[in-house]
Amino acid sequence: MITFEGVTKRYPGGTVALDDVSLECPTGRITVFVGTSGGGKTTALRTINRMVDPTSGRVLIDGRDVRERRPAELRRGIGYVIQHAGLFPHRTVLDNIATVPYLVGWNKKKARERALELMERVGLEPAMAKRYPFQLSGGQQQRVGVARALAADPPIMLMDEPFSAVDPVVRAELQDEFLRLQDELHKTIVFVTHDIDEAIKLGDRIAVFRTGGRLVQIDSPEDLLARPADDFVAGFIGRDRGIRRLSFVPASSAPLTDRDVLPADTPVERVTAVGWILVVDAGRRPLGWVSADALPASGALGDARLAPVGPTFDAETDSVRAALDAAILSPSGRAVAVDGSGQVVGVADQHDLTAAIRPAAPLAKDGVSG
Ligand SMILES: Nc1ncnc2c1ncn2[C@@H]1O[C@H](COP(=O)(O)OP(=O)(O)OP(=O)(O)O)[C@@H](O)[C@H]1O
Ligand SMILES: [Mg+2]
Repeated sequence: MITFEGVTKRYPGGTVALDDVSLECPTGRITVFVGTSGGGKTTALRTINRMVDPTSGRVLIDGRDVRERRPAELRRGIGYVIQHAGLFPHRTVLDNIATVPYLVGWNKKKARERALELMERVGLEPAMAKRYPFQLSGGQQQRVGVARALAADPPIMLMDEPFSAVDPVVRAELQDEFLRLQDELHKTIVFVTHDIDEAIKLGDRIAVFRTGGRLVQIDSPEDLLARPADDFVAGFIGRDRGIRRLSFVPASSAPLTDRDVLPADTPVERVTAVGWILVVDAGRRPLGWVSADALPASGALGDARLAPVGPTFDAETDSVRAALDAAILSPSGRAVAVDGSGQVVGVADQHDLTAAIRPAAPLAKDGVSG
């Protein structure tokens, strides 16, 4: 656990970069710092590895003040990743990744084996080992940066806008890989970003900083979206925070119906449904939609011209946001719920889905808590 206790940083000239900040970054979890530019996020991050020493207050790692430790020794246990990766331009990818293992005296062979293993972990082809940073794309450079920070297997990782210099598609890939990696590695991560969507996707806890180095709120993404502490946080999260909140409401709480789900071999004379019918095959896989008033006079349902199914959602694992998205994109206005094997469990319309959403409770107490 990383603990900030009343941390203030005042630079010569009077800028207050951090103003009496107290917070905790739990072990094995991702804590994200977001907020206005100049709000003190980078400064806060750097007090952890002593690149910045507070004017007053303390930063503790597992209960021990970081100022009791020599910076070099402290930093060996703390990986650091920055924007544009910060790679050494004159060293190969492999040697960049092996920087810390070399520094701490591993032999060359062991350090290089470790670097190769990490390249695979972060999704880099082994053939890239001998290239130089300028021969890589921005996304590949960021991967090298992450691999380098992981090389000495530090329990703590500090990441300062590590994915912000790449395009949105690569960025989403890096985020997904980062979450997969964290699932295996369980590092204590402090991650700085400007992007509230990135914060919500990656953070177990989100700390919002405001100009003047003030921590305004620290909460889980769900609670931040449901109960922003003040107008500043609400404004920062954005006007569609209601929609974003739906990402945390499980679709399993929405009522499903299978009344209008019919097999393709159903004779049309026997169809009593009005409105849209979802036609499924013998294995209950969705084939398409047909409107009851557009059915042919005879034959089987499957012979009718079907409208495409549209996106489906997983009734167990998806959120109401995904389900609503599916409903909006469906020709029938109804979303098709499937199970893990792709079989239809039922359908829900937009009304059913929104009924699953409870209004956010008002903020009970001060939003800033430990
Ligand atoms: N070495 C320094 N000397 C003087 N002032 C500094 C120094 N480093 C940072 N500051 C000031 O401290 C404040 C906080 O800066 P910091 O870099 O922590 O903000 P940030 O939240 O990371 O901003 P950004 O989102 O733009 O990266 C800013 O006003 C900045 O100008
Ligand atoms: Mg910064």
